[in-house]
Amino acid sequence: MALRARITGWGKYLPQRILTNRELEKWVDTSDAWIRSRTGIRERRIAADDETASTMAVEASRQALEVAHLNPKELDLIIAATVTPDKVFPACASLIQHQLGASKAAAFDLNAACSGFVYALATANQFIGAGGFEKVLVVGTDVYSRILDWRDRSTCVLFGDGAGAVIMEASTQGGSLSFVLGSDGSGADLLYVPGLCDSTLVANDHHYLTMNGPEVFKFAIHTMVGATKQVVETAHLTLDDIDLFIYHQANSRIIQAAAKSLSLPPHKVFINVDRYGNTSAASIPIALCEAIEEGRIQKGDHLALVGFGGGLSWGAMVVEWDSDPLEKNV
Ligand code: UT7
Repeated sequence: MALRARITGWGKYLPQRILTNRELEKWVDTSDAWIRSRTGIRERRIAADDETASTMAVEASRQALEVAHLNPKELDLIIAATVTPDKVFPACASLIQHQLGASKAAAFDLNAACSGFVYALATANQFIGAGGFEKVLVVGTDVYSRILDWRDRSTCVLFGDGAGAVIMEASTQGGSLSFVLGSDGSGADLLYVPGLCDSTLVANDHHYLTMNGPEVFKFAIHTMVGATKQVVETAHLTLDDIDLFIYHQANSRIIQAAAKSLSLPPHKVFINVDRYGNTSAASIPIALCEAIEEGRIQKGDHLALVGFGGGLSWGAMVVEWDSDPLEKNV
């Protein structure tokens, strides 16, 4: 029987520092009312000076390992989805591996911006399905506060820092049922951060995130609707069979517009962007953890995880949840 990848552990980390919309009003020409009405965001977390993508990831990963009853030395592979690694190289995943003491694990980073976590889940699924890798740590971690222009109101109000992690293990039942990944590089200029080797960066000393908000907004709704339909169909299910939709948390208006287009009942759509803003690759695993904590995921449920972001890119996965959240694992 073909091996599937099943989620057996989960964890999240949010920095302590809360940055409210009211505080942002003092820095840029914005208002709490504008941010809330256009995005649904009330506050976000900001990493302390000594926190990085790898240190946040380690906190989330330790929780995930504990839930899965795993010793870090049992891990075969670590995939870190991030676009804000501590260093260009070595990989953030290597730093995580060392901090965890996961001495047996191979480690690499995956860059698919806000779609990164779903891309990494799909990658772990393929490694496990092909055999040879049984226990994989997948972590989404981003520290956008370091790449935002805090004078640019059109971007700085939208993002926050955080990390989320899951353990995926080989199984013959449950787990990932289907996934869809996509990319449209023709939209690369709509959402980007210049790289170290980008000549415009050298010329303009501009290393901040740049975004065409309205264009990304349209792309996001269109893509989330299409990817949701496709991934559910690929799993031989219908939208009604999905118990919870966990979308990338960028803007509650985007999530609600996609949900409306798909006629999803609001109680089946998870939203926590109000408290964390857009945490990029961390947003889906953080939302997954909170959905579990809130008792919104039960054994036997079908989940749809759907992300979109820079690339432009998108990724979706249907998961049959066969861990018992109350027992913290089976
Ligand atoms: O992970 C993927 C990352 N990105 C996204 O998902 C973002 C997708 N886009 C969006 O979420 C929305 O496009 C935004 C929230 C970024 C913007 O909302 P919008 O409804 O598309 O507003 P807009 O960009 O069309 O701007 C409307 C007005 C403009 O003023 P004028 O030109 O009408 O006078 C902006 O200058 O709002 C102004 N504005 C602001 N006003 C107060 C833009 N940012 C702000 C702000 N505070 N922070």
